[in-house]
Amino acid sequence: MLSHASLNALLNGAAFVLLLAGYTQIRRGRVQAHRMCMLSAFGVSTAFLLSYSIYHFRAGSVPFTASGWIRPVYFAILISHIVLAAGIVPLALLTLRRGLRGDYPRHKRLARITLPLWLYVSITGILIYLLLYHIYPSQPAVDSAFGQVCLSVDTEVR
Ligand code: HEM
Repeated sequence: MLSHASLNALLNGAAFVLLLAGYTQIRRGRVQAHRMCMLSAFGVSTAFLLSYSIYHFRAGSVPFTASGWIRPVYFAILISHIVLAAGIVPLALLTLRRGLRGDYPRHKRLARITLPLWLYVSITGILIYLLLYHIYPSQPAVDSAFGQVCLSVDTEVR
């Protein structure tokens, strides 16, 4: 079954694809298709935010246990992702509002900032998921491993 973390990554992936599709559509002059793609991207990103909040409320935070060069790289990606994800909410709302009201020149100016930031937030969301759960999955804590060893030695002695 799909884990909650995988669902979150999937929602990020869907937002990324919809944003790119929306951009392609407007470059071809298809306003209605652009509108649909962007509203859908906003929908899946909202679903992601809700799902992410529920996940972290229930599971707490998952520690990144890898060491070496990947550690500062991971935290640089994570921090930039969190800061920009918070900023993208008002930016996306304002960009949508201008698009839906037909204020196209101002929409276009703002959208050229919103779109790359939003794409960055969704792709780094997937990258963080891959790093945390697949490439460098959490190692058992030293204490608990030590505990296991003590337990088996204790059992053998008896
Ligand atoms: C937050 C969601 C949205 C984003 C990120 C977004 C993104 C963009 C971008 C990047 C452009 C400029 C394309 C270029 O460089 O030529 C653009 C143009 C445009 N968008 Fe959106 N858009 C969004 C929502 C909407 C909505 C809901 C509408 C409603 C119809 C809309 C209508 C348009 C139109 C008509 C243009 C062409 C403006 C012009 O060339 O003067 N957009 N959008």
